[in-house]
Amino acid sequence: MPILGEKGVSLYIKREDSIHPHISGNKYRKLKYNLQEAKKLNHSTLLTFGGAFSNHIAATACAGIEQGLKTIGVIRGEELKDNWQDNPTLQLAREHGMEFHFVSRSDYQKKNEKSFLDELKDVFGEFYLIPEGGSNELAVEGCKEILTETDSRFDFICSCVGTGGTIAGLINSAKPHQTVWGFPALKGNFLKEDIRKFARNENWELISDYHFGGYAKVDADLIDFINTFKKETGIPLDPIYTGKMVFGIFDLIKKDAFKKGTQILAIHTGGLQGIKGMNLVLKKRNLPLLDV
Ligand SMILES: Cc1ncc(COP(=O)(O)O)c(C=O)c1O
Repeated sequence: MPILGEKGVSLYIKREDSIHPHISGNKYRKLKYNLQEAKKLNHSTLLTFGGAFSNHIAATACAGIEQGLKTIGVIRGEELKDNWQDNPTLQLAREHGMEFHFVSRSDYQKKNEKSFLDELKDVFGEFYLIPEGGSNELAVEGCKEILTETDSRFDFICSCVGTGGTIAGLINSAKPHQTVWGFPALKGNFLKEDIRKFARNENWELISDYHFGGYAKVDADLIDFINTFKKETGIPLDPIYTGKMVFGIFDLIKKDAFKKGTQILAIHTGGLQGIKGMNLVLKKRNLPLLDV
């Protein structure tokens, strides 16, 4: 893209989204060691949490069926109980065998409480628990593998941030001369603490100006950016995570945040399954649609 030449900056995108059609991007990395652990502990069922359009829910269902494990998704929003069939993410998860347990938003808040998890055990029996967004110690180990030796030439590693597991893995495997920049998809200051639970180094920063108002919030400029970027590069971006990050990187390049000669590596963490669901929302709001 011309702006890169003008500013003397190079940008590479690591296509983790092309790892697998449904278990793509950071999801494959986060699930890898968790599924190995579940099998090692002789579990036959995985239970996890997510919202209606969750990439993690879709990926867990697909990974479970591939590995012969039953999957249960605890889904935020009781109202979805009667109309989940209209939701492309939940359709995909069900096609891959996931059983749903719809809970109210207040019950969903209890997702890390022992008493709530015990209640779920009473209903579903023993399960291997994968937290919301898939972020735990084993997920961070998997995400460390996103970066390889050949990536040590880059000055900046950029990643989207949701629950913080992916960036923690990148922080732990980045070289001392590299800076990791995280682009939160949500508004709020809680993320730094979440990242610090798993991150071992200080070589990182959050760039919090590109959440577009909060989780899953979009506007016409973002949609236009994602569609234009796809036309010009052939690379699809999702509207909730990677689209916002790449928008942010280009905005920062325009504002001379990177000095001439800087080499940037952006991680494409997937999320493309969410485009269909977002287009349903955009249609209702009379906004332009994302090209598929
Ligand atoms: C496509 C995509 N990219 C990035 C993220 C953020 O990852 P993390 O939750 O590990 O911060 C998510 C959410 O998990 C995601 O679905």
